[in-house]
Amino acid sequence: MSNPVQVEVVLSNSERLPVVDVWLAVDVLRASTVIVSWFAAGGEELYPAGSVASARMLAERLKEEGKKPILMGEQNAIAPQGFDLGNSPLEITTELVQKNPCAVMATTNGTVAMLKAASTGVPVLVACARNALAALSAALSRGRRIGILCSGRKGRPAWDDTLCAGLLVSHLTERFPGIRLTDSARLAQLTWTNSKDFKSSLMSADHAIFLDKIGYGDDVAFAGAIDVTRAVPELCEFPDGDGMRAVLKLAALDEQTLLSDSRQASHGSERPKKSLRYPVVPAAAWQDGGSFRHLLNNSAENVFFAGEKYRKPRKGKLIKS
Ligand code: MLT
Repeated sequence: MSNPVQVEVVLSNSERLPVVDVWLAVDVLRASTVIVSWFAAGGEELYPAGSVASARMLAERLKEEGKKPILMGEQNAIAPQGFDLGNSPLEITTELVQKNPCAVMATTNGTVAMLKAASTGVPVLVACARNALAALSAALSRGRRIGILCSGRKGRPAWDDTLCAGLLVSHLTERFPGIRLTDSARLAQLTWTNSKDFKSSLMSADHAIFLDKIGYGDDVAFAGAIDVTRAVPELCEFPDGDGMRAVLKLAALDEQTLLSDSRQASHGSERPKKSLRYPVVPAAAWQDGGSFRHLLNNSAENVFFAGEKYRKPRKGKLIKS
């Protein structure tokens, strides 16, 4: 008999991480929504960076290798100087992404949460409301102990991410009745069940109010659509000199294990169109890179990750070198 499904929620990226089999990194406003949209529009690889400076350096290095990365992200919610794009999912068009399928991205909280999750050496997937069910399906095919890491805001829990974590937890509890929730998972679920309308609840978050004030209110509405894409980005690794390189790619989803989204609309949100369009990466291409889960176990000495070089200990977490 397989192990029971368990879910842990970490409410901000400043918390200590519990042991899980797989992470879903969430920054619904806006980094994870942007990354999911990037892959849904045909993006091929995206390098999350820990800071604007590392993003710039990483982009330079990729250019030396002949790639043409687009620089995207934010500092105080707007594009840093010299960046090609900010952090608005509405700037992402199929035309733009198909011309520039490689990106380097730095944001204040979102990419940082992804990197923190990655330092534990288990698979890391990117989730938001728009790909909630698909992200859960991918997570369940990688392990039973699912961790949801909310980016939060300024090192503290944020309503928007907690609400999105609550959506993920509720999707799970609907499909696995009786699953035991930890306290933080219950807090997230309560946030969700107390919000009759997802979009308007999302819009009441501190960060949403701030985004609206500076002209990005439409981004919040966009982030409030539930289960409209099956694009699930996953961190994976490739050989690079004396180490391995970590990058986000589109995870291949197994149609057999996709959780069903046949339930009726709830919480007043937009539901998916009949056929969801998303670029499919053949499983063989995906396996070339291998999953990030092996990152701490393979024999390479270093990991090139987020514009930085890390030494790999025999066991445990990555050490910056
Ligand atoms: C972040 O990573 O902090 C956010 O995505 C900020 C934003 O809304 O641009």
